[in-house]
Order: sequence, then C-alpha cells, then structure tokens
Amino acid sequence: MSDSRPIVDLWIWQLETTDRSGHAPPPDIRMETLSHEERQRAGRFVHARDRDRYVRAHIGMRVVLSQYDFMEPASLAFRYGPAGKPFLARPDAPRFNLSHSGSLAALAVSRALEPGLDIEIARDASRAVASVLSVEEKAELDRLPPEKRADAFARAWTRKEAVVKALGTGFETSPEEIVVGVSPDRVTPLVRAPAAFAPFERWRIECFPCGASVIAAIAAAAPDYRIVRRTPPWRNRSDLPPMS
Ligand SMILES: CC(C)(COP(=O)(O)OP(=O)(O)OC[C@H]1O[C@@H](n2cnc3c(N)ncnc32)[C@H](O)[C@@H]1OP(=O)(O)O)[C@@H](O)C(=O)NCCC(=O)NCCS
Repeated sequence: MSDSRPIVDLWIWQLETTDRSGHAPPPDIRMETLSHEERQRAGRFVHARDRDRYVRAHIGMRVVLSQYDFMEPASLAFRYGPAGKPFLARPDAPRFNLSHSGSLAALAVSRALEPGLDIEIARDASRAVASVLSVEEKAELDRLPPEKRADAFARAWTRKEAVVKALGTGFETSPEEIVVGVSPDRVTPLVRAPAAFAPFERWRIECFPCGASVIAAIAAAAPDYRIVRRTPPWRNRSDLPPMS
C-alpha cells in the first residue's frame, strides 16, 4: 500500500573538516556561492571557527536546495519573514528550515508543509528550566529520576524551538507558553500555545536522537507527515548518525 503522507526531507552534514566521525562537510567552498548579505554576516564572526561553520552551513543549504530548484547554488534568492525566517523567493519553491549546533547542520525541506527544525547538542541547561518550561512541564520533569532530567529538558527545549521555527515568529512568544511536554515519546502534540499557533490539534512534533549527544525535532502544523533521511549530494556513502 502506498504511503500518501506528506514528506519532510531531512539532510544532515558536518561543519568541521577535521571531524573524524566520517560525516563529510560540503565540498570546498567558494565564498562567491553566498549572497552579499551572507558574506557580510560571515565577515562579522569574531572567531574563524564560527565563521567557517556558518559558511559550511549556508553552502550546504544552498547545494541541497539547488537540487529541488534545478538552479546553481549561487543563483538561489531568499526572502525573509518578519522575524527573519528565510524562504526561497520563488512562489512554488519548497519550504525549508535550517538548524546548526556545534559542528552539525541539519536542513528540513518539504514541498507539502512548512517545517520547523531544531538540533541541539545535549548539555547541562538546568539553569534555564525556570524560563523555558511551563508549570506542568516542570512538574513532569520533577517526577523523573534525576539522571533522566537533562535529556527530558533537552527534548522539551528542542520541540519548542522547532514549533517556533515552523511558525517563524522567533521567541517573541515566551517558551513557557508553548507546552510540548518532556516525555520520551517520539511523536507529541502541541498541548497549548498562544493563539497565533491555533489550531493546536493540527500540530505534530517529532523528536529523535541524532547521533551521540544530539537531539533533533521537526514540527509542522500538519496532522501527519513522514520524515525521510536524505544523503547530501557531496557524500559518497551513507554514514548518517543513527535515527532510532
Ligand atoms: C529563530 C530562532 C528560534 C533560531 O534559534 P537557534 O536555535 O539559535 O538557531 P538554529 O540553528 O536552530 O536556527 C538558525 C536558522 O534558522 C533560520 N531562521 C532565522 N530566523 C528564523 C525564524 N524567525 N524562524 C525560523 N527559522 C529562522 C535561519 O536559517 C537560521 O540560520 P542562520 O542563522 O545561519 O541564518 C532564534 O532566532 C531565536 O529566537 N532564538 C531564541 C532562543 C530561545 O530563547 N530559546 C529558548 C528555548 S525554548
């Protein structure tokens, strides 16, 4: 039986050439591939490592998106939503969302829906609990054994970011008002949020581990969809981190 659910393509790549994990970064880069604005942003980074990661994230994004649009990576034109969410300028182009954390970048692309994507390197963020979790999420977290709390918090954080990034509003909404839960379930609903996110029952949030210490979430205001892992075009072998 054929699967008619909308598809979200998920592309993941490395941002460090020195990485030994085997997840290759985009091929060597020509700054001319980037727009004037992207080159200006790259030039503002204080540390060369951060600049190089930014450049590899954007070159990778352009190379992947050019495959959908049958254009040269350098020819892609972007426009931006009110809070900075980028879109391809062509009206019938696929929708996408980029996320980068540490030395990893990920890109969600869909022809059917508007994806939000967040990847985070797991770290101790316990000091942020009070400003990120709702009252019921904090209570849920407190009921967990201490050793499970860091992962649970990372899941909630990543889900919230993915929801906000799907809508494109940025954090003008306080994270505590976006209630997604801390459960380890792979698929979760949007429990509650401000009116801009309505109707909440349409949302589907899918959260998954994405290699060692990395957590990822995709969110969309669509009741069902299927995430398909894709191999970036500059890879010659399928060595993506496991997605269990
Ligand atoms: C949009 C936002 C949510 C991205 O957060 P982030 O986790 O720092 O960054 P990510 O790596 O996941 O995403 C960055 C990419 O998202 C895209 N983006 C930019 N603005 C966006 C927006 N308003 N909506 C969706 N995507 C956006 C861009 O492609 C950007 O890449 P670039 O910076 O290389 O151009 C950020 O602007 C923001 O408001 N952060 C607040 C963080 C916060 O308070 N978190 C609380 C935890 S719940």
